[in-house]
Amino acid sequence: KNLDQLYRSVIMDHYKNPRNKGSIEDGALTIDMNNPTCGDRIHLTLQVEDGVIQNAKFDGEGCSISMASASMMTQAVKGKKVEEALQLSTVFSEMMLGKEHDDSIDLEDIEALNGVSKFPARIKCATLAWKAMEKGVSEE
Ligand code: FES
Ligand code: FES
Repeated sequence: KNLDQLYRSVIMDHYKNPRNKGSIEDGALTIDMNNPTCGDRIHLTLQVEDGVIQNAKFDGEGCSISMASASMMTQAVKGKKVEEALQLSTVFSEMMLGKEHDDSIDLEDIEALNGVSKFPARIKCATLAWKAMEKGVSEE
């Protein structure tokens, strides 16, 4: 298997078996966002305590890239400090822009979306969940 195939299977796995699907009921930050170009939407709930994202869940409707990215994002930020999550978000958007980025940070599954940077129309799909996360923690 080459790297592209590996990445594709990681993306499909997150799409078909989304991590952290659902909604946190009580006392959670709630963020609803859509991708204006297609109308796809995400409903994100975050539980932030003492500067740490204790829990993150998402729901929504969207293409495989947007839903896989939301799954990866919740997996990646859960248990992280808000500042670490924001740092990861910065690295992710640099990756989407095809820029050099801090490779000392472990991107885990998120790295599988690397190739999306070659398809400008899909970048908004991949960044939707991250934008929602940034908005949520900024309201905290
Ligand atoms: Fe940047 Fe792999 S470390 S894409
Ligand atoms: Fe709508 Fe991807 S096509 S989020």
